[in-house]
Amino acid sequence: NYFYQPKPVLTGKKILITAGPTREMIDPVRFFSNRSSGKMGYALAEMASKLGADVTLVTGPVDIIPPQGVDLVEVTSAEEMFEQVINRFEKYDVIIKSAAVADYRPSQTFTKKMKKHEGTLMLELERTQDILRTLGKRKSNQYLVGFAAETNNIEEYARVKLESKNADMIVANNVTSEGAGFGTDTNIVTLFKRGGYKRELPLNSKKEIAKEILIEVANSLKEEGY
Ligand code: CTP
Ligand code: CA
Repeated sequence: NYFYQPKPVLTGKKILITAGPTREMIDPVRFFSNRSSGKMGYALAEMASKLGADVTLVTGPVDIIPPQGVDLVEVTSAEEMFEQVINRFEKYDVIIKSAAVADYRPSQTFTKKMKKHEGTLMLELERTQDILRTLGKRKSNQYLVGFAAETNNIEEYARVKLESKNADMIVANNVTSEGAGFGTDTNIVTLFKRGGYKRELPLNSKKEIAKEILIEVANSLKEEGY
């Protein structure tokens, strides 16, 4: 008919997106975290929903109003994010790990506020579990998108992450470039896929970049017969 409109490209797809930083508590009043604002992940959630997907957003603590129509799961630590993602990923077609997950946490979290003393303080940190790597090992038919936040050797590190984590796509960005990275409303990213595929996206708003990433994912799903 005259009013024919094509279906949005992600109609019927279930997408799990993680966003924001994690917080690793040292004691009740102090934590380790990182500079992630959550803007890229929230833009992805909003756009995925607009493109017709059924979206769950697993988010660390951020200062953004969640997009409407998205199923929100709030977490604080890397361990909580791990649990929430690993317990539900099997129901999804696509998983996008844009969260900046802590790589280390204090070996011990004190239950009472630590008091200051003279001299230096040594804190022992232990590794957290890598959520993306675990998904890469356990996935059946999920399309897995990871991010790579780098300051140097972007392409080399992104390709290593693609392989070593068994991801289908890596969105790499130089977090120290002007107009890219933490807290900004814009970003500059390069998409890497299996088989040597590489596509550079010029500086754009995080919302437009989110749209490009999601259209790329939709094309891959089609081409690769997901
Ligand atoms: N990631 C994850 N779980 C972790 C750490 C990272 O799922 N414990 C995911 C991130 O969400 C991102 C990807 O792995 O999608 C790459 O994160 P990044 O910090 O760039 O790389 P790492 O593998 O942690 O390695 P490094 O920080 O040493 O570069
Ligand atoms: Ca890391």
